[in-house]
Amino acid sequence: MSEAVYSLSEIVMRYGDREVCRVDHLDVPPGSITVVMGPNGAGKSTLLRLMGFLDSPTSGDILFRGELCTNGSEPPLAMRRRVTMVFQAPSLFQRSVEKNVAYGLEVRGEENVEARVAEMLETVGLSHLAKAKTSTLSGGEAQRVALARALIFEPEVLLLDEPTSNLDPESVGLVESLISKTVKERGTTVVLVTQNVFQARRLADRVALMLDGTLIEVGAPDDVFTHPQDSRTDAFVRGVMVY
Ligand SMILES: Nc1ncnc2c1ncn2[C@@H]1O[C@H](COP(=O)(O)OP(=O)(O)OP(=O)(O)O)[C@@H](O)[C@H]1O
Ligand SMILES: [Mg+2]
Repeated sequence: MSEAVYSLSEIVMRYGDREVCRVDHLDVPPGSITVVMGPNGAGKSTLLRLMGFLDSPTSGDILFRGELCTNGSEPPLAMRRRVTMVFQAPSLFQRSVEKNVAYGLEVRGEENVEARVAEMLETVGLSHLAKAKTSTLSGGEAQRVALARALIFEPEVLLLDEPTSNLDPESVGLVESLISKTVKERGTTVVLVTQNVFQARRLADRVALMLDGTLIEVGAPDDVFTHPQDSRTDAFVRGVMVY
């Protein structure tokens, strides 16, 4: 197997004296979709922020493509640019939809911006809203603009925090096929947080389950969903957990 994109070991994240995220070990293989699941407050977004180099863990090591990023100094900009994150509650610029999507290409001085933006908007089903101000969008439309804005960067790693939580079933299908296609065609590595067990089954190459601030299980979907090692995983995926 080729080298992991991320290799996390002995990660602990604390706010004050409260531990909110613990990962003993996690490897994220390249060109695959790793799905992180778990109840509210489990530490999923915290884990994603660590992978996006937005926060540094209190202790532990994160290797990105074999390079240590947790040695006290900020990871270099060149490394951070290889990773794009779409937040759980994305904030858009107070401009039109097309300006928001064009932004990434414009800052890099790329060509053909207009045509590429139009194509991306078509792909996410938002062509009809190209000129709309983002403040007028519904939650699901805004979520798709944020995804389009991230995808147009063609990042090496895409971190998606509940990217379909506000979407209707048709839009969920559209976004899921877009994610799969991106991974297949560009070899993008995706880490996706979701509460949706069905989505995890549809998309995941690997599933990680977080509970009470700890990553308790990680493996192939069939193993995690059908033969979980931890009884709490079984309870979570069958929806019987009381928390
Ligand atoms: N900046 C912060 N300061 C203090 N506590 C924080 C901070 N960020 C997160 N937390 C706490 O860490 C815990 C984990 O939060 P996190 O956002 O990672 O959960 P989550 O699994 O993404 O939950 P959800 O499903 O609700 O999005 C929560 O209890 C939260 O209150
Ligand atoms: Mg979250």
